[in-house]
Amino acid sequence: MDLLNNFFFIALPYIAIIVFVIGTVYRYRSLKFGYSSLSSQFLETRKLFWGSLLFHWGIVIIFFGHLIAFLIPQSILLWNQQPLRLFILEISAFTFGIMAFIGLINLLYRRLSSARIRVVTNYMDIILEILLLIQIFLGLWVAYGYRWGSSWFAIVISPYLKSLFTFTPKVDAVFMLPLVVQLHIITGFLIILIVPFTRLVHFLVFPLSYLWRPYQKVIWNRDRKKIRNAKEAWTVHRPENN
Ligand code: HEM
Repeated sequence: MDLLNNFFFIALPYIAIIVFVIGTVYRYRSLKFGYSSLSSQFLETRKLFWGSLLFHWGIVIIFFGHLIAFLIPQSILLWNQQPLRLFILEISAFTFGIMAFIGLINLLYRRLSSARIRVVTNYMDIILEILLLIQIFLGLWVAYGYRWGSSWFAIVISPYLKSLFTFTPKVDAVFMLPLVVQLHIITGFLIILIVPFTRLVHFLVFPLSYLWRPYQKVIWNRDRKKIRNAKEAWTVHRPENN
């Protein structure tokens, strides 16, 4: 049992971080144009809008929430000293988690159900979205089943993660955690491990300059319906916009 625990909570994190760093740098240097979310917006917009909007707002805020709890655990504990503030934090985090979950179900459904999107979907897209779905589901389960995670994260998980970065892994407390929490940690490291092999690399090249660059206007100057039938993956005749 100890051997398994050591593997999942000491070896796996180091393997994941090494593969992440080497893999993302290598991919950036060798495949610059593939370093992207590979948008499929031109192929299907409606389902993407709601799926992507809910998912991204949810996941980005949850991601930064975890990062803040990891970096400044003492401040989170201070904030949580008053029950009302603790409730506000926990309920908002849970709501963003639900948003991410519903959004991702929509995105996965879109990838599997739309003929046009299936053409541009590979195995890693499906594996990534299923892993993310499992991870968010486990996170919601942890939040609901093992209350006030924002406080015990600061006491148990933050010191564990910091100990990994200082190469002095302290894993005793993590070994004692409930299985669901352990699975949430393990799936997190698995996601970090596969980042270089998926479209998830896009969050490393966040287009900050979009915040201050001038708007771009994209204009159709032909009848879109005549150019291509949106319900079919392929047209018999060569479409005019290719
Ligand atoms: C840093 C901010 C982020 C930005 C600006 C961003 C932007 C985007 C964009 C533009 C797309 C393409 C949507 C399309 O097809 O047009 C996308 C897709 C995607 N993003 Fe992000 N993203 C961010 C963070 C994240 C994070 C933190 C995750 C997960 C941990 C994530 C997971 C995904 C996934 C799985 C897809 C593919 C969805 C699909 O088409 O099925 N993104 N993102």
